[in-house]
Formats: sequence, structure tokens, C-alpha cells
Amino acid sequence: MRRLEGKVALVTGGARGIGLAIARALRSEGAVPVIADINEQGAREALAGLDAPDGMALSVDVADQASVTSLVDAIVARHGRLDILVNNAGIGGNTPFLDITAEVWNRTIAINLTGAFFVAQACARVMSTQRSGKIVNIASLSGQRGGHGRGAYGAAKAGLELLTKVMAVELAEFGINVNNIAPGAIETEMAKFAHDAATRAAYNYLIPMTRYGTPEEIADAAVFLCSEEARYVHGHTLNVDGGFREAGLMFRSKAAPSA
Ligand code: NAI
Repeated sequence: MRRLEGKVALVTGGARGIGLAIARALRSEGAVPVIADINEQGAREALAGLDAPDGMALSVDVADQASVTSLVDAIVARHGRLDILVNNAGIGGNTPFLDITAEVWNRTIAINLTGAFFVAQACARVMSTQRSGKIVNIASLSGQRGGHGRGAYGAAKAGLELLTKVMAVELAEFGINVNNIAPGAIETEMAKFAHDAATRAAYNYLIPMTRYGTPEEIADAAVFLCSEEARYVHGHTLNVDGGFREAGLMFRSKAAPSA
């Protein structure tokens, strides 16, 4: 028996990377995927690869509240309900604190924090009338540790982690289960953009498992949090990071691999 049979599942930023892996994993558990992305063509191509005749591929800019409202309206018009949100859309950022401009700051917060809020609120309003739903926000280890260059990005993700807790407190009475995944360093296009060779070497040294994670490893955690098995896991941040968060001093006899 598949764990998410017939559940209507919205994944924002699902055209590629972690979001696409999550959409694929939800689909393999029987969910009806809705892939929403600012890259509409990419969303269509992603959906085409999922063997999901009832699925939808839709355009959204999560930073634009009207666009988010249209997205959620379109899902409800087609399916009459919304069971799962994976709030994944985001942009990377690696700007030293002294160089962060107002433009970089505002754009990073607008997409990674305000956008996640717009999507979560619009979906939670639908779920509250159903008195059921699952929301998984995708934050980041950069929201928990002070990584170099992660001023704007880390602040946005820390805000999302706190927002998850408030949502968990306020939405429990509506039967909405809310959790957060904090990925560590995951091998995606975003990581290729944001991580230079020195960053990669530093991560591989500091991560006890000495490697980046895969999008599929985040997807496995998302499926769990969206399933009945996680029904009493609430307001939690699940770090999926190869041990990066919990590691203390590390003495290595050999250098960690650089890529
Ligand atoms: P990615 O860049 O490969 O994919 C992000 C997707 O979001 C793209 O398809 C993009 O078109 C879409 N998107 C960007 N802005 C959007 C907007 N305004 N509205 C709608 N869609 C938009 O990124 P990746 O690596 O798959 O990251 C996914 C999530 O995981 C992000 O929230 C990111 O912050 C988070 N994350 C990623 C980590 C990594 O190492 N790759 C580590 C920790 C967190």
C-alpha cells in the first residue's frame, strides 16, 4: 500500500533540484503532484517525467501574493482540496555581510521568507476548512549556523524555522501538521552556484559523513513528514545534513574529499 495514495500535493520550486526529487518521491507514494515554479516550462517538463495524469504544472512567483493566490485557487478549482504542501521554492545566496546591498537583502527575504509565508498561509486557509493537511517547510542549516556569506540567506531561513513553530502552535487545532526540514549541503544547481571549491572543501571537512547529500535524501525525509507515520511529529525541524549540525571538534587522519 502506497503511503500517500490520492493526496493532492503542492511542491513549490518543483521544476528541478530538491523540489523535483520531492515531487517524484511523493508521486511514487501515490500522491497527485502539483509542481509550481517560476520556471513554468521547467515545471511542465518535470511533470511530464512523473507519470501523473492528474498532476498539474503551474507558474508561480512565490514572492508575489496575487500569483500565490491564483495558484492555490487553480489547485482547488481542479481538485477540490489540497492535502500536502512542500514549501520548497528558494534562491541561494553567498554575499559577505559587508557587501550585502539592499537589493540582495530584499530579494533574498522576499523569496525565501515572505514567499514561503504567502504560500503557507494560502494553503493553510484551504487546509483549515478541510480540517486536515500536512505542511513541510524547507529551511536550511544556514538558518542555524553562522556560515560565511549567509547573512541574508541564513536570516531568511532562520525566520522560516521560527515561522514553522508558530504555524505548528496555531494550526494544530485545524488538524494541520507542520514541520520543517533543514538540509545541509545538497548537490543541486543551487549548490553549484553558491559553493566555490573552497566552500566545498570546507563542507566536506566539517560534515562527519564527508560528502554532500543528494536531493533524494531530502525527499525521503519529506515523504516521512507527509505520511501518517509522522502524525505526532509537529513543529519539528528535521536536519538532513550528514551530521554537520551536531559535529564538534573533528580530528581527521586524512583530508576529506574536496568534491
Ligand atoms: P534550485 O535552485 O536547484 O531549485 C529551486 C527552484 O525554485 C527552481 O526550480 C527555481 O526556478 C524555483 N524558484 C526560484 N525562485 C522562485 C520563485 N520566486 N517562485 C517560484 N519558484 C521559484 O535549488 P535547490 O538546491 O533544489 O533548493 C531547494 C530548496 O532547498 C531551497 O529553498 C533552498 O534554499 C533549500 N536548501 C538547499 C540546499 C542545497 O544545498 N542545495 C541546502 C539547504 C537548503
